[in-house]
Amino acid sequence: MSLLDKFHTPPAIVDSIERYGVNPAGLTVEVDGCATEGVVNGQRVVLAGTNNYLGLTFDPLCIDAAIGALITHGTGTTGSRMANGTYSDHSLLEIELADFFEARSAIVFTTGYQANLGMISALTGPDDLILLDADSHASIYDGAKLSGAQIYRFPHNDVAALEKRLQRLGERAKRTLVVVEGLYSMMGDRAPLREMTEVAHRYGALHDSSRRRLSRAERRRLDQLVCRAVARRRGRRLYTCRSVRFERRPGHAGARLRAPCVALG
Ligand SMILES: Cc1ncc(COP(=O)(O)O)c(C=O)c1O
Repeated sequence: MSLLDKFHTPPAIVDSIERYGVNPAGLTVEVDGCATEGVVNGQRVVLAGTNNYLGLTFDPLCIDAAIGALITHGTGTTGSRMANGTYSDHSLLEIELADFFEARSAIVFTTGYQANLGMISALTGPDDLILLDADSHASIYDGAKLSGAQIYRFPHNDVAALEKRLQRLGERAKRTLVVVEGLYSMMGDRAPLREMTEVAHRYGALHDSSRRRLSRAERRRLDQLVCRAVARRRGRRLYTCRSVRFERRPGHAGARLRAPCVALG
């Protein structure tokens, strides 16, 4: 059997999906001037799955800034951030975000996938351990694999199971990174963050306890921060906010920041 033979028979799952007349892998969406609606298979639909939470993609300020950025900088940085892709305004945005979150520094990734790959593989290495919620996003699994750390899973949102695992690890718990999500995008449920943080803290494992609920005033400040970054660079730079994520639920006034990252488009 050759390398490509496996592609001759489509997996059963693709067949079964195609029977519904939709193939998510081959989906194209047409957008025509609207941040929240598009056309899929000739049908006008609400775009509930995008990261365009602030609707900035059709904001006149952003469009002006994008045009200005294209004229000043061309169509791209032509290099990774490691090489020549970090411009002073990227750094400025990171400084402003760090300031907002009262953190020492911040880093901006272009997608959530990259954020998880970058963060997890930087924080852990072959001598470390990672405890993952079993229903973590694929990007978390990929980041964990890339780190070379030993990976253990615990059942979804199960604080007792997490504690049991940490207990079993003994001293090694101190070399353990616990990774959970604030909101599980496929299921729509939340992690019991307070309890999990408390357990991780008790066993000396590393966790990010910064994901706290944002107040209405803080949410407004964050919106202003992003809009200010756009406005200040009006005619010069493109900043679209894709990955500052808020979780909202009917009946819940508060919002929670899902990923500590902002994407530059
Ligand atoms: C927790 C989590 N991480 C990463 C991602 C991937 O984000 P992106 O599509 O921006 O790569 C998602 C997407 O929904 C997510 O829910």
